[in-house]
Amino acid sequence: MVFTTVRFASLVAVAMTLTSGVVAQPPPCVRSYTVQAGDWCDKISAEQNVSTYQLLAANQGAINPQCSNLWVGQVICLGREGQDCTDVVVVESGNTCESIAAAAGITYAALRANNPNVDENCTNIYPGEVLCVQGGSA
Ligand SMILES: *[C@@H]1O[C@H](CO)[C@@H](O)[C@H](O)[C@H]1NC(C)=O
Ligand SMILES: *[C@@H]1O[C@H](CO)[C@@H](O)[C@H](O)[C@H]1NC(C)=O
Repeated sequence: MVFTTVRFASLVAVAMTLTSGVVAQPPPCVRSYTVQAGDWCDKISAEQNVSTYQLLAANQGAINPQCSNLWVGQVICLGREGQDCTDVVVVESGNTCESIAAAAGITYAALRANNPNVDENCTNIYPGEVLCVQGGSA
């Protein structure tokens, strides 16, 4: 019985070693935030200068795509090393990707590259969404 348990434990250890060798570790978190009562993802994003896309990307496995599993006191990551855009705008009613890009002085392509959740023709942005508008090579 003891022997079986030890063997099982060592198999688990081997499996974990293999997994950690294959799965890339996310870059270290450079900014974090503690969830407050009444928060939702886009509210946190707007207040903390994080894009909607980045907030989810920085918290893979911890925040679901619907952002329905936040809890008060939860410490979340706002940005990861090398992947932290702080130059953001909140989408307002009537905005288009063209108008947002023009106002920020960047190209449409750069706006889309910054925000991979925006579809090809920018039909899925919504008021309250937070977009990264940093300049880029695109
Ligand atoms: C967010 O960005 C604005 C504009 O640059 C700045 O005034 C504000 O202090 C920033 N807020 C945080 C929490 O970083
Ligand atoms: C985006 O717009 C172009 C030009 O109107 C069109 O050809 C293309 O099919 C559209 N893409 C999607 C995913 O709707």
